[in-house]
Amino acid sequence: MLKPIEIKKDLFYVGVNDRTKELFEGHWPLPKGVSYNSYLLKDEKCVLFDTVDICYSEIFFRKLEKALNGKKLDYLVINHMEPDHSGSLGLLRKQYPDVQIIGNARTLDMVKGYYGIEEGTTAVKDGDELSVGAHNLKFYLTPMVHWPETMMTYETTCGIVFSGDAFGTFGTLDGGITDTQLNPGKYWEEMIRYYSNIVGKYGSPVQKALAKLGELNLNTICSTHGPVWTIKENIRKVIALYDKLSRYEGDNGVVIAYGSMYGHTELMAEAIAAELAGLGVKDIVLHNVSKRDLSYVIRDIFKYKGLIIGSPTYNNELFPQVEALISKIQGRDMKNRIFGYFGSYTWAGAAVKRLTAFAESSGFEIVGKPVEMKQAPTEATIDGCIALARAIAEKL
Ligand code: FEO
Repeated sequence: MLKPIEIKKDLFYVGVNDRTKELFEGHWPLPKGVSYNSYLLKDEKCVLFDTVDICYSEIFFRKLEKALNGKKLDYLVINHMEPDHSGSLGLLRKQYPDVQIIGNARTLDMVKGYYGIEEGTTAVKDGDELSVGAHNLKFYLTPMVHWPETMMTYETTCGIVFSGDAFGTFGTLDGGITDTQLNPGKYWEEMIRYYSNIVGKYGSPVQKALAKLGELNLNTICSTHGPVWTIKENIRKVIALYDKLSRYEGDNGVVIAYGSMYGHTELMAEAIAAELAGLGVKDIVLHNVSKRDLSYVIRDIFKYKGLIIGSPTYNNELFPQVEALISKIQGRDMKNRIFGYFGSYTWAGAAVKRLTAFAESSGFEIVGKPVEMKQAPTEATIDGCIALARAIAEKL
């Protein structure tokens, strides 16, 4: 079980799987778990790239010891300080007191703040290099992907990038580590959910990071979550996906996200969807926001260019889960969406007013006339929904 896993010559996988946690960062569901990846490069000097969540430190240290096989651990390179990766840092320093901790100035400030470690650290700047024998490391600062200290380390000899969270996915590694050892099909949707919810606010910093990577010959991407990408086609695919998502470019499809207490508002969503389908729109995703965790709704909003939101009025406000969705959209500086909306009320309308305020502040292209329904759908309501669907379809 603890047999060292050499994923490339001199490079060992010493990460762990988490099939226990329900919620990543305390709020993102993990139905397929998640891996915390850590890598050991063995050369004249031995270098560890990131650690793992403290809950898994015991198994991590056993793997590390096996992989070192008696050699000294010389360096720990920290590409990202979020505790799902730095959590075992304090214990690592106790177990390997001579390990030199490498990070940029912001990293080392966090190392001090989180773990009280100030000695035995080396600050690197963008473009600095470190030779560890046959392998040479070059550090690229990539701030705000998705924390201020985030950086990537490029191994120049073989073309390996240790990318931190970038290109990572939810989902455990069930045996295979590299994309040559597994079927990556199950990871793509979870890569988008990871990106859109966790990194999604930072499109511009991601674009800057991609520009830096664009100058490199990449043969392997070692992210801190999910598979190691080694197949050229997959490397191209993950980079293209990040490029598209960070430009907020959606495919030709429509997300209809709605709240509904007794099904009346849902009927409006159904009428819009049916008309869109009749007009040839094939990718239509309806999300009942009371039922579907919002991380999946956000994922699909990143995937598709069309967005329609519907809400009942509740306590003279938006339906609470619709309000929560709007807050998440605003929190990600979502752009480039074609937007329509609808709402309902029983005695005093507030939902459409609130959605109008959201639409006007969103920067989205507002399309069609919002439909407002009193109590239950009438023919006029359905006609309004059909007109809204037509306006959206025309713009796609
Ligand atoms: Fe996987 Fe931002 O931590």
